[in-house]
Amino acid sequence: MRAAFFCIAMLSWACAAIAEPDTTLTTPHRSAEAYTQPYASVSDPASRQTFQAGRTLFRQVWTIDGGEDDRFSGLGPLYSRFSCIACHPGNGRGFAPDGPTQSMKAMLVRLSVQDTQQRILPHPVYGDQLNEFGIPGVIGEGIAQLEYQTMPVTLAGGEEVILRQPQLRFSELAYGPLDNVLTSARIAPAVFGLGLLDNIPEEEILRQAQRRKPAGIRGRPNMVWDIAQQKMVIGKFGWKANVPNLRQQIASAFHGDLGITSRLFAAPNCTVTQTTCLATPAIKSPELTDQQLDEIQFYLAALAIPQPAAPTPATQRGAALFKQAQCMECHTDQLRTGQQSGIALLNQRTIHPYTDLLLHDMGEGLADNRPDFSATGREWRTPPLWGIGLAKKVHPEAGFLHDGRARTLQEAILWHDGEASTAKECFKNFSREERSLLLLFLESL
Ligand code: HEC
Ligand code: HEC
Repeated sequence: MRAAFFCIAMLSWACAAIAEPDTTLTTPHRSAEAYTQPYASVSDPASRQTFQAGRTLFRQVWTIDGGEDDRFSGLGPLYSRFSCIACHPGNGRGFAPDGPTQSMKAMLVRLSVQDTQQRILPHPVYGDQLNEFGIPGVIGEGIAQLEYQTMPVTLAGGEEVILRQPQLRFSELAYGPLDNVLTSARIAPAVFGLGLLDNIPEEEILRQAQRRKPAGIRGRPNMVWDIAQQKMVIGKFGWKANVPNLRQQIASAFHGDLGITSRLFAAPNCTVTQTTCLATPAIKSPELTDQQLDEIQFYLAALAIPQPAAPTPATQRGAALFKQAQCMECHTDQLRTGQQSGIALLNQRTIHPYTDLLLHDMGEGLADNRPDFSATGREWRTPPLWGIGLAKKVHPEAGFLHDGRARTLQEAILWHDGEASTAKECFKNFSREERSLLLLFLESL
């Protein structure tokens, strides 16, 4: 009840938060192809060619030995999927299986153990990610399944929403038991607009962390290992901001998800106990060339943000409610990029990603209890909300939250807790009309 009072108290000064779309950074496409469009200024023949080459690499079905085309070889020995696009359909987000009889199609499971000195390490046998598949002669690690418990939540006015809490279990484990393991099931996020986020300077993220916030809301950066620089830096990508930059994120996806080595991840994706995996000779080293890494980095960095739908009185009211419910304290609507991007367009821009790129304690219900660098088992990075209204248009099954448990935006909001509990209570206590206006605003992004 206190939260409800708080929401009302704020009404008087809350105002609409819809920013003017910046047409140089956005694409007018609001179709299933909305996440696949380059910035309009990426139009000279050389840039177009690099963009196309990167696009091919992202969509390519990789093979073991290449056959006719050696450029796309090196899959495995252990891997999760044949292609990047398999988990990021239409460059969008993944989704969770509907129950234990379905396989994970667009998500993965991270693994680690805690040693006697409380250090978090990759699992000694299975490594830091479960790879379901192996090339002939190398057996896949096993299968991960999700089972759900459902629970009803009642909103102001009596509306009832059923949430589903996933429980992870493993079967067909080929390399022995997975006991005392820390796990984190994660769906693939969408991959547009990342050139801009990659270009947010550390000072801007620290500024977000230091910004004054209402009682109960904190927010701090993750500190992670940058392989190229060989030092700890602020993390930006991944559900726990567990990866420092776009290039390392791409190389780690090739390595962890497809078993493809690169300059940044030169050793094969096998643990010391996986002897058949280790004994499989690589047909080349590294399997992904620096040029290919450049191409795919350019491609992902050059993917434009869908232009929000034209504001209407209803979406403007929804935007005001979004602000009033404190959503914008974490889903910050303005960040300023630096000048480190190779794409000049992305330098020194004000953007509206609706994220502060910080970690927040989101409560017990969302906790994976698996620390990731300095992120605790209860902390998650605020995900960007730009383009989120098109998620289901891009892929009808698209899921929300780190493990895809939320099937709708409303379910995603209702899972908020911890630092976001006041925001969640505000939303629950809004009238049915107010809730639908807020959701309408999200759908307009
Ligand atoms: C098995 C499913 C899967 C495959 C295959 C996959 N990804 Fe991902 N991707 C994910 C998941 C899950 C995350 C979030 C990881 C995390 O939180 O640690 C992610 C995160 C990312 C991100 C960061 C997005 C962000 O906003 O933080 C990028 C970029 C990315 N993947 C690119 C790729 C590329 C390039 C490939 C192909 C080499 C690829 N992915 C293949 C599941 C996948
Ligand atoms: C304390 C910070 C915080 C506040 C306040 C907050 N959020 Fe979030 N939000 C997060 C984090 C962190 C996640 C990711 C949680 C996860 O995946 O487990 C998230 C996830 C989401 C998602 C799902 C995004 C995705 O990519 O799947 C939506 C939608 C969302 N928030 C909307 C809202 C709305 C609407 C409000 C206000 C009612 C709000 N949030 C308030 C931090 C916050």
